[in-house]
Amino acid sequence: GQDPRIPKIASSIRVIPDFPKPGIMFQDITTLLLDTEAFKDTIDIFVERYKGKGISVVAGVEARGFIFGPPIALAIGAKFVPMRKPKKLPGKVISEEYSLEYGTDKIEMHVGAVEPGERAIIIDDLIATGGTLAAAIRLLERVGVKIVECACVIELPELNGREKLGEAPLFILVTSD
Ligand code: PRP
Repeated sequence: GQDPRIPKIASSIRVIPDFPKPGIMFQDITTLLLDTEAFKDTIDIFVERYKGKGISVVAGVEARGFIFGPPIALAIGAKFVPMRKPKKLPGKVISEEYSLEYGTDKIEMHVGAVEPGERAIIIDDLIATGGTLAAAIRLLERVGVKIVECACVIELPELNGREKLGEAPLFILVTSD
């Protein structure tokens, strides 16, 4: 059966219609963060899944992967690697482009943050089209890191984002349709 913690996590996420644009149902995880039980359960479920699996890297995608990633990294004894929007990181970076509805965007990671052969999970709050996670996967694979899994709190399954992730498995807590 389903983990009994999941329904409470799901109901702690606030849905705001027409944000940031008409027609978008925004999945707002700030209300999950205010619910001390739901936030702890969310982190615990990820930690139970990834502890003891030889994972040395938790990569978090800006901005909300920076909220969920670090507590997981600390609990499993891995380092936290931020994957940032362009021009935010001060050191030498490698970057990976991805397509948006109109135009492209990029994520960047510091050179030297990870080493070939390391095993990583990639964390974000939500997968929509999958473009962001696919770029994060490419970035880490370019430097020889093995992606054990991508993990998100929420999936919008209608956009088929998981099909963009190739061989990398996707673990999610809540499906929103
Ligand atoms: C959202 C979300 C994911 C991404 C998912 O971030 O937090 O990072 O979009 O979309 P995709 O699967 O279609 O790529 P957003 O672009 O709003 O950036 P922000 O977190 O910095 O506000």
